[in-house]
Amino acid sequence: MSSSTVYEATASAPVNIAVIKYWGKRDTKLILPINSSLSVTLDQDHLRSTTTSRADPSFEHDQLWLNGKEDEIKAGGRLATCISEMKRLRKELVEDKDPNAPKLSSYKVHIASYNNFPTAAGLASSASGFAALVASLAHLYQLTVSPSVLSLIARQGSGSACRSLFGGFVAWQMGSDPAGTDSLAVEVAPREHWPDMHALICVVSDDKKGTSSTSGMQRTVETSALLQHRIKHVVPERMQLISKAILEKDFDTFARITMADSNQFHAVALDTEPPIFYMNDVSRAIIALIVEFNRLSIANGQGHKAAYTYDAGPNAVIYALEKDIKQIVQLIVSYFPQRPSEFKDVLGLFGTASSDINTLAKVPEGFNEAVAKRFEVGSVKGLIHTRVGDGPRKLSDSESLLAANGLPK
Ligand code: DP6
Repeated sequence: MSSSTVYEATASAPVNIAVIKYWGKRDTKLILPINSSLSVTLDQDHLRSTTTSRADPSFEHDQLWLNGKEDEIKAGGRLATCISEMKRLRKELVEDKDPNAPKLSSYKVHIASYNNFPTAAGLASSASGFAALVASLAHLYQLTVSPSVLSLIARQGSGSACRSLFGGFVAWQMGSDPAGTDSLAVEVAPREHWPDMHALICVVSDDKKGTSSTSGMQRTVETSALLQHRIKHVVPERMQLISKAILEKDFDTFARITMADSNQFHAVALDTEPPIFYMNDVSRAIIALIVEFNRLSIANGQGHKAAYTYDAGPNAVIYALEKDIKQIVQLIVSYFPQRPSEFKDVLGLFGTASSDINTLAKVPEGFNEAVAKRFEVGSVKGLIHTRVGDGPRKLSDSESLLAANGLPK
């Protein structure tokens, strides 16, 4: 090291799962969407990306390691854009104003990032990953800017990443400026507003390589007539209605809109030429179970109690209030028996000595068991129980992912 001061910061950032889906870009380089979207940020205690960024005059290149493996930073690519945009903010907001500020924007950076969830789970890590990258660079560069400003940069890494700069319930406003200055994330409500919003992620087995979001959505933009109807006549009203439902803690309306929007997203995928299928038989069986579960709760005068949503893959995310999560776990396990070892997390809910979640399988009274068949062990290969969470966190130096020599630990 050529200098004695270490310029470094570590931050973590959450995953978010949209309830109004982003699908389609009007500008693929700046990542400007054709519709606004809205998501729930999930708790970093369960799922997170952690990133350490260090600037040093002795570094020869910008370099990045993901889960210990070097990832190429391609010139003009998404990573390079985010890093150079953050250096630009450092220069404009700090160095140009204070001649004594160290010229960190001229140093190369080493960045190490780590996801605490397995890539094999098929959970998107690009949102939390780009949010953690931008958050760690913001601390390194001592930028005192709002999360919305940082969201403008995370957006250029991956669209959905802009929503991970906030906790709670977050809208990505599509904006209208061709330069993208108003296409940013805003907080609809913080997690504290509705902390009993929980989520159950059903990790579905999948061996086939699916179509990536980036290429899939572009094909939909080019070929789907249904997408045009969606962006003009459906999403604007849903954004309003679901924001209101969140502010009023109206779970019934929240659930209806969430499921309708997931369905329409998968409908526009099917309307793409050639068609794209993200859900499989297991995904569809989970829909049937939730529909029947809701039929019962509506019949009992309690409205919808669960809302499924699916992204660009077969995994189900089921939103429900805390009080109803146990019953939903028992229902899912009834149709999707588990390998006991994969269930430690969810078992905790039941405070039982049993190490086998399958012994807790149970369907609610009056449930029509014929709505789905029972699947073989491992069709749903794991359940993750989590809840609405907070935005990016600054971590202490002791949590650094870089060793003294500037390489990943
Ligand atoms: C289905 O944000 O992964 O999850 O902007 O090309 O990186 P890029 O796409 P990405 O797309 C996410 C699509 C989605 C819906 C959503 O998160 O809103």
